[in-house]
Amino acid sequence: VKSSGGNETGKFGHSFGYGFLHEDINNSGDGGIYAELIQNRAFQFSQKYPVSTAHYFPINHANLSIQQLDQPLSKALPASMRVSGGNGTGKIGFKNEGYWGMDVKQHTYTGSFWVKGAYNGSFTASLESNLTSDVFGEVKVPSKSVADEWTEHEFELIPTKDAPNSNNTFSITFDPKNAVDGSLDFNLISLFPPTYKGRKNGLRVDLAEALADMNPHFLRFPGGNMLEGNTNATWWDWKDTLGPLKDRPGFEGVWNYQQTHGLGMMEYLEWAEDMDLQIIIGVWAGLALNGDVTPESDLQPFIDDALDEIEFVVGSVDTPWGKRRAELGHPEPFELNYVEIGNEDWLAGFPGGWESYREYRFHMFHDAIKAKYPDMQIIASSASSDPGDDKGEPLDYPEDAIGDYHPYRQPDELVEEFDRFDNDIGHIIGEVAATHVNGGEEPRWDGPLYIYPWWIGAVGEAVSLIGYERNSDRIPGTFYAPVLKNENRFQWAITLIQFAADPKMTTKAVTWYCWSLFAHHPISHTLPTSSNSSYGPVYWGAGKDENRDGAMVWKGAAYNTTDGEPVPVSVHFEGVTAGTKAKLTVLTNKVADPYMYNDPQTGINIVNVTDSILEAGAGGAFQFSLPQLSVAVLDTDVT
Ligand code: AHR
Repeated sequence: VKSSGGNETGKFGHSFGYGFLHEDINNSGDGGIYAELIQNRAFQFSQKYPVSTAHYFPINHANLSIQQLDQPLSKALPASMRVSGGNGTGKIGFKNEGYWGMDVKQHTYTGSFWVKGAYNGSFTASLESNLTSDVFGEVKVPSKSVADEWTEHEFELIPTKDAPNSNNTFSITFDPKNAVDGSLDFNLISLFPPTYKGRKNGLRVDLAEALADMNPHFLRFPGGNMLEGNTNATWWDWKDTLGPLKDRPGFEGVWNYQQTHGLGMMEYLEWAEDMDLQIIIGVWAGLALNGDVTPESDLQPFIDDALDEIEFVVGSVDTPWGKRRAELGHPEPFELNYVEIGNEDWLAGFPGGWESYREYRFHMFHDAIKAKYPDMQIIASSASSDPGDDKGEPLDYPEDAIGDYHPYRQPDELVEEFDRFDNDIGHIIGEVAATHVNGGEEPRWDGPLYIYPWWIGAVGEAVSLIGYERNSDRIPGTFYAPVLKNENRFQWAITLIQFAADPKMTTKAVTWYCWSLFAHHPISHTLPTSSNSSYGPVYWGAGKDENRDGAMVWKGAAYNTTDGEPVPVSVHFEGVTAGTKAKLTVLTNKVADPYMYNDPQTGINIVNVTDSILEAGAGGAFQFSLPQLSVAVLDTDVT
């Protein structure tokens, strides 16, 4: 059997990393991990998504209308909502339905809204049921509002009881009799529950914790297709995502909804910092999804922009962009070792697309970044096997660059690719998932797709992960993609975590358990292996972890799809003697169906986790067996 090599993982300065790509798809950002509860909070719009009062509902017969005032809240937020009318008695206002509801608990909500118009009175902000007359909490907010200026009102709201479900709304009312003209203009209406690590404008706690629980190493952002943008005028421009929310215009996302820019550059960096993640930043390379091409002659400003972006992340406070970062509250540079140029540009089959990437685009960015940041690991957006035999030449990779491989595959195919990286240049596996069932019909993406990751897919992925990790001298890490799905926005089914407004729906997919198991047993150095049997149905890799006193680790998966018999395994680590203890963790499927998944609707978790402490027998071998379709780790660190 071919040896797994044995290599100095140290080239990248860290153990092989398990991580994820995050972009705003499936409302994974807005309405997802970005904890803002108000949908359409600032009436942002783009050519594709006209401004509207969507997600707001009038209270007491108020009229809600969009205004483009001569004096807008800001250049970035030119539209606002006028609240007027009513039936002549009582308060008027609006309620917002959130992102398909709102979770209401007895904790502190932090809110704010901007108002223009003379008003002598107070506002009432409240969280209430959308089904009953229950008001879970409310607070009076004294008005500071004046006729010719926008004023911000901030408040805290602590409900007196938990809501029984997430079918709730947030409302603001005021007394129109005390408002000159009987109307007021509102903008940037915001409400946050407590956030992950208490960050202002931060992350939703349960989703962030579910990701952090996986023990990830890497965050790749902002895409994915989101980085590329629909057109050359509408890409995720990081500079638009900085600073006060009133200065963020939002943008036409690429996944069929307007985005807020709330989860901006700084928020991504803080996310990485709070979870101790290495980051891979994708910089925009001048190609968009619709076939727009920024030609060579116009590319320099975008190269400068990428250099600014890197400076924003790592520059000292004496640099212009480092200074800007410090002004935004983070004088210390963040750590950045990886920059990717564009995303999946080998798919840019339009005139001036891929060939421009190969011929000059990638190289111009690469050379400029390397000149200023010689230690930066540059990643091309294609793999050495892209764009495929008949579709053009692959990139001529500079020696110091690595590629990016995106296998969205059938589980059988992931297993077939176990040795894909044994003799290749370095890559990240920037996006990977078992997305299609074995033997499924073509064309794959138009055929029936499963709605959640299923067990046999998870085991197939595990085999491919072992194949990547055993080449970790050239492969710094692998990324699940996409990572989150709001159950109400169904663009890409196969994700690591599913959720809705109600945290009870938050579900770790079966794949999460396999990724988490491998990520919790890091290997600083892979070890050469030999065996008296060949790979299949059991696939394995081994290593030691110098960061855990040289713990020996064996990772394996049994991809026996037809034969139900457990496979006997005997593992002997060189130097390990009889009596040594090791912890064996085995993941299996609790049900017989290999296409079963963890379903957020039922809350049933089909992954069975078995831990046992083994003792090495004569000759120092650990004996165990792997059940059909199982994933396992044996680790001599039993603490
Ligand atoms: O992960 C979903 C999409 O798949 C990404 O945006 C893109 O890079 C890939 O094609």
